[in-house]
Amino acid sequence: MFVRVLGSGAGGGFPQWNCNCRNCKGFRSGKIKASSRTQSSITVSADGENWVLFNASPDIRAQLESFPPLQPGRAVRDTGICAIVIVDAQIDHTTGLLMLREHTQPWDIYCTESVQQDLTSGFPIFNILGHFRGVNWHEIKTDQSSFTIPQAEGLVFTAVPLKSEAPPYSPHRHNTVPGDNVGMRIEDTRTGKNLFYAPGLGVMEDHVKQYMEEADCVLVDGTVWTNDEMSHEGISDKLATEMGHLDQSSKGGIKDILSSLERPRKILIHINNTNPILDEESPQRAQLTEAGIEVSYDGMDIHL
Ligand code: MLT
Ligand code: MN
Ligand code: ZN
Repeated sequence: MFVRVLGSGAGGGFPQWNCNCRNCKGFRSGKIKASSRTQSSITVSADGENWVLFNASPDIRAQLESFPPLQPGRAVRDTGICAIVIVDAQIDHTTGLLMLREHTQPWDIYCTESVQQDLTSGFPIFNILGHFRGVNWHEIKTDQSSFTIPQAEGLVFTAVPLKSEAPPYSPHRHNTVPGDNVGMRIEDTRTGKNLFYAPGLGVMEDHVKQYMEEADCVLVDGTVWTNDEMSHEGISDKLATEMGHLDQSSKGGIKDILSSLERPRKILIHINNTNPILDEESPQRAQLTEAGIEVSYDGMDIHL
């Protein structure tokens, strides 16, 4: 299985357009060692030809330009993307769908019913796409049954309901139901290897931990180092937990959880611009390295 990290940043990317925090300012002035990041998305393929896009970020245009296998190669209008999976209805995971409106046929989009509801009501992107070539919605069940995507031969998917957060325009905001957020187990049937992908993870539940323990690679929520990080520089009074993200540094946080896993390769994704780990020379980043935890970057390739 080939996994390409298209966007390793959280909503807003890095640097964020209106942000003057230590990281964003430090990056712009060249004072910190860090790389820029587009917003949250990966793509996965078993054969290197047919790619499933996980989440469609507002930065998708640049992301497609950065990765030739997704570019047109076989016809005058073409794409390497064979289907799209959406793990939640947040802006950073869905807005790119609008940029894909020129597709020559309806998009095959896989998401849960509650995400489909948000994308046809509070943020009615599916309705808007209906005025172009439209959407073939395929429901992802929340009962952890596995499914396949016909165009993506050799991959088996299992959606794992988990606790994170629904977007502000959802009726489930602060009162989530199973299906507002899912992680995804992606298995390559030929190699038998599997990836567990969860860019939003607010609460560590036992069943989620089990998927992580059994994975060959976990690519999970790296949004913040501390729960109150957004308030440090007066950016926002929101805690990460209120936004559905578990921090890395607290007891029982993402670093502790990942450290307890023996089997998988451990990689963080969906990293917010305020997170000190973006500074490659920070003590926080050194702690991750010591714990054997990697930080994904735009353009990272993972082979499983
Ligand atoms: C999140 O992951 O919490 C959201 O994507 C934040 C946002 O972009 O508004
Ligand atoms: Mn997000
Ligand atoms: Zn910033």
